[in-house]
Amino acid sequence: MRLKDKVCIVTGGGSGIGRATCLIFAREGARVVVADKRKEAAEAVAAEGAAIGATMMPMMMDVSRDDDAERVVEQTVKAFGRLDVLVNNAGYGFAGTVVDTDEQAWEDLMAVNVRGVFLCSKHAIPAMAATGGGVIVNTASVVAAVGIRNRAAYCASKGAVAALTRAIAIDHVGEGIRCNAIAPGTIDTPYFDEILRKSPVAADSRKALEARQLLGRLGTPEEIAAGILFLASDESRFATGSILTLDGGMTAQ
Ligand SMILES: NC(=O)c1ccc[n+]([C@@H]2O[C@H](COP(=O)([O-])OP(=O)(O)OC[C@H]3O[C@@H](n4cnc5c(N)ncnc54)[C@H](O)[C@@H]3O)[C@@H](O)[C@H]2O)c1
Repeated sequence: MRLKDKVCIVTGGGSGIGRATCLIFAREGARVVVADKRKEAAEAVAAEGAAIGATMMPMMMDVSRDDDAERVVEQTVKAFGRLDVLVNNAGYGFAGTVVDTDEQAWEDLMAVNVRGVFLCSKHAIPAMAATGGGVIVNTASVVAAVGIRNRAAYCASKGAVAALTRAIAIDHVGEGIRCNAIAPGTIDTPYFDEILRKSPVAADSRKALEARQLLGRLGTPEEIAAGILFLASDESRFATGSILTLDGGMTAQ
């Protein structure tokens, strides 16, 4: 019960790493707001958590919208009286070098992956500070530290998330707020399936992506959620402004 009675918002909670995070938080005693732009996905994860006895609240939101970020924080505090943990996890990527990335596609990705972290944190921090502090965990990626081919916009966005993690940690330490990020390697989620679907030879791409990891396999959403739980709980109380890499050894090579 590492998050007993903690009130937590998980963005992108309807799938993959976000879903696994909602469910491990639920098992650890948290009250969880499953925030996702897909209503049915948020509701389905909330139902899974409720089935194991947890208090869950599904909420539809687009993290790139200021009014949505404000509403989700306000309704969370209205429902539960406080906010302890924000997991800024919603995000996506697409293939492309800077030359073949469409300008609007760049803007749209930055709006979700970077502005989303900014807006949700902007509204969450005062709410956390009002009850003595809290914890923010951002989902960055190994691409914040090492480059990968043909993912220019995605790499730029996750580099910004890592930098923003440090900035938030520094600015809000005095309010009792810690902010850290998780940097996953390649994880077997619906987002990864989408990448494979778009690849000309899916089986070969999967093998190549598995080989990128020193451990020779993809990570699971649950393995990343375990790291997010550590950063969200008091066990990580000496960590702020740090990036926890869970990548099967990808960046060790
Ligand atoms: N899968 C990987 O290999 C991998 C590796 C490193 C980092 N990440 C990061 O992990 C996070 C989660 O990825 P995943 O693989 O679990 O993806 P996923 O596609 O399985 O889940 C992402 C969820 O975010 C939601 N979402 C997307 N845009 C949103 C928006 N604007 N507002 C609210 N919700 C929105 C989607 O509806 C979806 O439910 C992302 O930030 C991703 O960049 C993933």
